[in-house]
Amino acid sequence: MQLEILGNANTVTYQNGALVIKTAQAEARVWVYSPTIIRVCISKNFSEADSSFAVIEKPLDDFTWRHLSEQVELTTAALKLIVNINPLRFNFYTADGKPLSEDDARFGTNWQGERVINYRKLYPDEKFIGLGEKAGDLNRRGCNYVNWNTDASLHTITTDPLYKTFPFFIGLHSGLSYGLFFDNTHKSYFDFGATTDEQMSWFGADGGDMNYYFIGAQGIRNILADYTWLTGRMEMPPLWSLGYQQCRWSYMSAGEVLDVARTFREKHIPADVMYCDIDYMDGYKIFTWNRETFPDPKGMIDELKAMDFRLVTIVDPGIKIDENYSEYKEGVDKHYFATYPNGELYTASVWPGRCHFPDFLNEEVREWWGASFKALTDPGVEGFWNDMNEPAAWGQNMPWLVKFGDKFMPEIRNVYGMQMARATYNGTKRILNGKRPFILTRAAYAGIQRYSAVWTGDNAATDEHMLFGQRLVNSLGLTGMSLIGVDIGGFMGNPTPELMVRWNSLGSYTPMYRNHAALGMSMREPWQWGDEYEQIIKKDIEQRYKLLPYIYSGFYQSVQTGLPLSRTLAIDYTQDENVFDINYQNQFLFGDGLLVAPVISTADGVDVYLPAGDWYRLGSDEKYSGSQVVKVSCPLTDLPVFAKAGAIVPMQNVVQSTNEAGDGILLVHIWNGTEANAFVYYEDDGTSYDYQNGAFYKREISFDPQKRAVIFGEVEGSFVSKYSIIKVVWHGFENAGTIEAENSTQPFIITY
Ligand code: GLC
Repeated sequence: MQLEILGNANTVTYQNGALVIKTAQAEARVWVYSPTIIRVCISKNFSEADSSFAVIEKPLDDFTWRHLSEQVELTTAALKLIVNINPLRFNFYTADGKPLSEDDARFGTNWQGERVINYRKLYPDEKFIGLGEKAGDLNRRGCNYVNWNTDASLHTITTDPLYKTFPFFIGLHSGLSYGLFFDNTHKSYFDFGATTDEQMSWFGADGGDMNYYFIGAQGIRNILADYTWLTGRMEMPPLWSLGYQQCRWSYMSAGEVLDVARTFREKHIPADVMYCDIDYMDGYKIFTWNRETFPDPKGMIDELKAMDFRLVTIVDPGIKIDENYSEYKEGVDKHYFATYPNGELYTASVWPGRCHFPDFLNEEVREWWGASFKALTDPGVEGFWNDMNEPAAWGQNMPWLVKFGDKFMPEIRNVYGMQMARATYNGTKRILNGKRPFILTRAAYAGIQRYSAVWTGDNAATDEHMLFGQRLVNSLGLTGMSLIGVDIGGFMGNPTPELMVRWNSLGSYTPMYRNHAALGMSMREPWQWGDEYEQIIKKDIEQRYKLLPYIYSGFYQSVQTGLPLSRTLAIDYTQDENVFDINYQNQFLFGDGLLVAPVISTADGVDVYLPAGDWYRLGSDEKYSGSQVVKVSCPLTDLPVFAKAGAIVPMQNVVQSTNEAGDGILLVHIWNGTEANAFVYYEDDGTSYDYQNGAFYKREISFDPQKRAVIFGEVEGSFVSKYSIIKVVWHGFENAGTIEAENSTQPFIITY
């Protein structure tokens, strides 16, 4: 295989908003999307149909550039791109000339066959974070990764690749930051100085173009805002999806589903969601019900609703080959399935036996798929769990000559799951007619946050998987995702009661809080562990429900800015080396004000790194100074969680589900501190899209220690809060009792 180098630039022109640079072999185009976002695409074979599954924004029409003798210089208010002409290299600097990221001067971009690789300069102190659902440490320096969506059942904590593809990383060096999104759906590779003796980093793909977006915003929050501006942000999730979710492969009958739901209510353990895994279907045929075990789906769902439960059902892509199955017949008649190059339908086996696979790359197929959900929405399902969409089939190795329209498997594999989730989201949103659907997917590509929540697949019931899961959640938060879950308790294997309790307490601080287990594993409901442990699990689930006003406001932040609810400490304490220390890398901020330190089930004490500032242990209000490691106790009843000095955390009293009205009291907890702080409180009806037309209640709550005051700003939006009373709950203030006020939409001040 020959090495084809990019070579020297022969011509540089400006055409329709792009800088067009031609070499003997290839062409590079450069666009400016915003002052902090520049796109470079290098191709041997430019396609005029410039499309992306991830990017939803368009480039600017114009930008400033000049041609110097050996260079082209492109400048924005924030960035300078210097294009060296001979040989062609792309180097990014801050506006005042500090290097952010540069091509490796020797190798830059080149090809070996269809494989395209970009070699980049590695700075001595450079760290890398990101790539979403990837094994390894927070700092990915010295590691290499492959993106190739895989049904990674039985994965370990070092397995790569897993289920999802997010070819987006953030580089940190010299006190600076940048992001790089490689928008290429082929199998892709990232090497962060792993195999190059620290000389360079590199990334590339098996095919397609060297097509990347360089984000030069400073600070990880700003990079995430840019990345999610480019690839879109999530919508407000249904409030019920933020409650406790009880899943299992499978609750085998309507009776069993109802019994479990009833037991939650009898025991006064809050919960919102029940799941039906694959066994609710007739022979695993998608969009059908097993009429023996689920004779009356609507009746069952009505009963669930009467108990304030919602139902989520699973769907897989594989459509069973069965002449008596309408989905199959229609799919065949209308040519909706993936084919071999000779036009025969591609067949592989999954749960239902031999199946065909819808071509979700085709809009007509997506429409068809979306409309088929009526079989589930008619009886009342509101959540749709998309599984096996890597796509998975027994044997795992779908041939590369399988075709989806005019594209072959290698080009589409990494986006297949995303397109299934897109079809599910669009279809169910339409049918639900104004209600928010909840979509959950296992496979994903960059931009998935627009359509779906994700979970991290088939983990195992071990302490190391619990901590690994948290690293995955933290890393997924760097890719525009916020509604993220792991199988709490572990999918494969049986947790000890202690692990179950500990994992559940961490689960109450996980954006999506879902308990799930594989077929044949021990039962996992909160009451399966004996009375003492049941009480702890119940208390932690109650804590989740108390925190919902805070959590919902946190999701509003994700919707507005792309900031995740669970945040690696690297986001806010980027320059603090300790947050990258493998002993503390699992820690995260849950929303603006709470720091959570995950800890294994067998420890009763743990070292926690508290970053700069003062911190209070949640529960006891014991105060700690930050910028140090502290030893704290961690009995199973008390996961180490700390409130930041000045934190503002709106909470409520316990309710049994998000559907319950509650007592109408919003408890605004504030922890004393020397610095002013502000929190944006957000509320809406939790189920409809009316918030997009102004039906929300939003106000800033600020804490001003100089004025010894808590200030409630004026309410924006037309929604009437469900809390008629606001109580301020003080922590770490001397002689300050709880203060109660009416929830007026006008500004008011409470002093202490
Ligand atoms: C896959 C999913 C798992 C599900 C099972 C049966 O393994 O990852 O969550 O329970 O299939 O549908």
